[in-house]
Amino acid sequence: MPTFETHTDANQHYQSGFANDFATEALPGALPIGRNSPQRAAYGLYAEQLSGTAFTAPRAHNRRSWLYRIRPGAVHKPFTRVPADALRAKLVANFADVPATPPNQLRWDPLPMPAAPTDFIDGWVTMAGNGAAESMSGCAIHLYAANRSMQDRFFYNSDGELLIVPQQGRLAISTELGKLDVEPYEIAVIPRGVRFSVALPEGEARGYICENFGALLQLPDLGPIGSNGLANPRDFLTPHAAYEDREGRFELVTKMNGVLWRADIGHSPLDVVAWHGNYAPYKYDLRHFNAIGSIGFDHPDPSIFLVLQSPSDTPGVDTIDFVIFPPRWLAAEDTFRPPWFHRNVASEFMGLVHGVYDAKAEGFLPGGASLHNCMSGHGPDAETFEKASRSDTSKPAKVDATMAFMFETRTLIKPTQFALETAQLQANYYECWQGLTKHFNPEQR
Ligand SMILES: [Fe+2]
Repeated sequence: MPTFETHTDANQHYQSGFANDFATEALPGALPIGRNSPQRAAYGLYAEQLSGTAFTAPRAHNRRSWLYRIRPGAVHKPFTRVPADALRAKLVANFADVPATPPNQLRWDPLPMPAAPTDFIDGWVTMAGNGAAESMSGCAIHLYAANRSMQDRFFYNSDGELLIVPQQGRLAISTELGKLDVEPYEIAVIPRGVRFSVALPEGEARGYICENFGALLQLPDLGPIGSNGLANPRDFLTPHAAYEDREGRFELVTKMNGVLWRADIGHSPLDVVAWHGNYAPYKYDLRHFNAIGSIGFDHPDPSIFLVLQSPSDTPGVDTIDFVIFPPRWLAAEDTFRPPWFHRNVASEFMGLVHGVYDAKAEGFLPGGASLHNCMSGHGPDAETFEKASRSDTSKPAKVDATMAFMFETRTLIKPTQFALETAQLQANYYECWQGLTKHFNPEQR
């Protein structure tokens, strides 16, 4: 059975539901009733709207929140560019500029922990992506590895929303709209523009980020599955309002079109006393995903494991699919049970939070990554193929203690120069298929 226990919620309460119209206040009466912008807000607060979609977006997709804060977001000194060598971060936001994309299957070992003190922002590196932040289409896929909490430093991303997939170490994320405590097996989504700071309660942290330049992530339709299943809306958790009234010398950092900028700010920007709306950070425990699969023969396409999607303008074709491969029973009879060999029009970047992925017995490590681009052939390695071709499929088998995931996109996922040159790139990845020998014999069915 999957465990439904989480370990980060002991002192933390959240609001439940996906993109609900939430209302929360840290001081009683801080939220105006029946209006957004009274002549004078309670407690001497400033009212500020934070919008995440066009004003005229259809109601079902329209996302914005009203923030009641100690100082408006406009109060800070001018931004100046962060010198390129001042941060370890190697960030890419326009994938027209990256090297030619090799058609090879690619796989990487986990990023090592940094040797020098490195916080969540310093520890970013872009591995791959497509489109461009400036045209608000596509995505960037980053890894992070950090060993220091952000100190007197706050960040917001101008380029897109951040889907954070921790692999090692908890993240204590303090945002303008409240606090999210996130551990491996959970994900967090920080909307574009929301200011936040990340502390590392366990000292070190490593994981993956999918930065979505396009339409906001949403829950997929369920079609014939019905009204329940996959990721259920009530399991998405959004923080209550929490503010700090802190003055001092702080730094506000933003990423705009892939470039980091910094500004001095004389107070903590996490000073929102109350807010209401449907544009807010959230987290989700992947252990709550209700995996659905075949109880007869064959297995469905991996879209059955879709957690969140960023839709494109073409119905049924997503810009980004976030798909997981959670613990589950395999019951299909007389079936090759691991993922089959395939070549897809979509491109697939995979990561592993824990355990072993059922298509690869070796070489794909927690914290590592693989990239199989459009039409690049891949599937189980030779060892997995041999084992699965002979296994007893008259009984169910459990895929246990694992959590792999995929960022799947409709356009090429172009690796960055860093990704193609890093020592973590496995030069021998292709060898995992070289042992797939010829079994064909026209004399024997
Ligand atoms: Fe694949």
